[in-house]
Amino acid sequence: MKTEELFQKRLKNHHDELRWLYMELYDNSAMFAELCENMYRFAQDRAAEFQKLDREREKDPKWFCRNDMLGMMLYIDNFAGNLKGVREKLDYLKSCNVNCIHLMPFLESPKGRSDGGYAVADFGRVQPELGTMEDLVELSKACHKMHMNLCMDFVMNHTSEDHEWARKARQGDGEYMSRYFFFDNPAIPQEYDRTVPQVFPTTAPGNFTYLKEMGSYVMTSFYPYQWDLNYRNPRVFNEMMYNFLYLANQGMDIIRIDAVPYIWKELGTPCRNLQKVHTIVRMMRMIGEIVCPGVLLLGEVVMEPEKVVPYFGTVEKPECHMLYNVTTMATTWNSVATRDVRLLKRQMDIVSSLPKDYIFLNYLRCHDDIGWGLDYGVLEDWAMEEVPHKQFLNLYFTGKYPGSESRGELYNDDPVTMDARFCGTTASMCGVESALYEENQEKLANAIRLDLMLHAYMLTQSGIPMLYSGDEIGQVNDYAYKEDPLKREDSRYIHRGKFRWELAAKNQEPGTLQEQIFTGLSQLEQIRRTRKVFDSSADVYTYDVKDEAVLGILRENEEERFLGLFNFSDEDRTAWLTEEGEFTDLITGACGTLENPVVKGHGFLWLSRQISKNCLKTCG
Ligand code: GLC
Repeated sequence: MKTEELFQKRLKNHHDELRWLYMELYDNSAMFAELCENMYRFAQDRAAEFQKLDREREKDPKWFCRNDMLGMMLYIDNFAGNLKGVREKLDYLKSCNVNCIHLMPFLESPKGRSDGGYAVADFGRVQPELGTMEDLVELSKACHKMHMNLCMDFVMNHTSEDHEWARKARQGDGEYMSRYFFFDNPAIPQEYDRTVPQVFPTTAPGNFTYLKEMGSYVMTSFYPYQWDLNYRNPRVFNEMMYNFLYLANQGMDIIRIDAVPYIWKELGTPCRNLQKVHTIVRMMRMIGEIVCPGVLLLGEVVMEPEKVVPYFGTVEKPECHMLYNVTTMATTWNSVATRDVRLLKRQMDIVSSLPKDYIFLNYLRCHDDIGWGLDYGVLEDWAMEEVPHKQFLNLYFTGKYPGSESRGELYNDDPVTMDARFCGTTASMCGVESALYEENQEKLANAIRLDLMLHAYMLTQSGIPMLYSGDEIGQVNDYAYKEDPLKREDSRYIHRGKFRWELAAKNQEPGTLQEQIFTGLSQLEQIRRTRKVFDSSADVYTYDVKDEAVLGILRENEEERFLGLFNFSDEDRTAWLTEEGEFTDLITGACGTLENPVVKGHGFLWLSRQISKNCLKTCG
């Protein structure tokens, strides 16, 4: 079928619903017609090879749900200098078993006022020191040749104050002012502030910024230089959709919709997760399916579970293809500190009772801080009150609590709410940094065990596991940001350090820290990607092993019964269970019956039984 015919077919599938939602929101048929014309233009412009991928993926819509997916997020400059550098390092990423690369923000963004690239000044231009759009397309093509995917951010809640629209608005041009939220006196901003919580209470307090030269207030939910876009204006929606399609056409496979819950604002509400946000995401999903159906939407919804799940939409009217498993991530670290898996088990039960089509991105940490978004209702039943518990977690992870080996820093420590979030690399949080500093081999061995156990746990979950670049070699915190006046106020840079290639070079040198983590992870990743039982279609349950420190997870399909046991305490523990038949330890290859196995302190077991035959080939 020709592009034209395919476009018409896809448009026909969605036209009525798209038009309905658009008219409901904007009641503007001329702007809707313009949107359709532009969708057609982007469909025509889409390179033949990306169109081919679209067709393949339409035939295999679950292509991203498979167990062989493994992501890694990285900053282009930290990892390889520029986009060309990343292309040269694809073999290294392949050696990490990675087949999905999330490039952290790389579009034009003013130095020192960029929020790590999340303040975009030009959606059509790459930061010059990182390369050009052509380099991006080349990278995408090189990735596809190696069966790898590319993911990039689409920052749609706001633009940089240096964006052309913002510059024109600052000159008083009404057309452009109407693309943001402007107020000529503090009355309405104050009204908003009554119900809208703050994102960065310490580093960027408030939700508005006063522009002296204009005598006006502009809405800035994040930093003062990130101006919130006004999606009540159909011009904003249309133009942002053109930006989305333009970026998709540079060969992206996944578009991460940044800070999506914030995109619709209404006075008297918290301005998060409002119904109209879902209307916009649903329209975006349809627009993608019409122009570039091979491209997935990954929603960044860092909210409590009941707010996250609606971003999948419904089976008939889907929104995002994938979402971050943020509560599971935070709850995992809670279990590390408390050595108590009860809350984590509940969280796993919630996630595994969701439809299998809901694909989560699982991670131990990302480029942002860890917010302690836990289920305090439940914790309170167990005598853990929210404020003191958060204080305990922060003391624990900053290494100030007796017995803690974690290192890191607080983030947005708010003296009013007594709330603070946390920053640090996975390895530093597991105790690698303190053990190296003390040159204590025993502590180092324990830290490595914890690090690998947490990764094994992450890889046991359904969905797409996402590593943070550097975690595969146990990279620790980087304090260099404190010397940089543009970064020192933002402790998230502690875990956004330069990739240490000189350390990565030791990842095959037996006995080094890097080799132990790299090889340990590699083994897990290879097991995961070759066994169907890790596919999202498998059944998943938690297993009560009668020990509050040990989490048991069962995965099962017609062929295999897999049991993962994860010990969050530093002492050896017995998992009280008896399973019929012979199990294989997937790590050691040992085979035997399973009766109350002992799991080493901070260790794990990956055990498997073939259902059809009694024992796996590896039993000899
Ligand atoms: C997202 C990003 C974060 C950024 C914010 C504002 O939450 O992950 O790094 O600060 O959006 O764009």
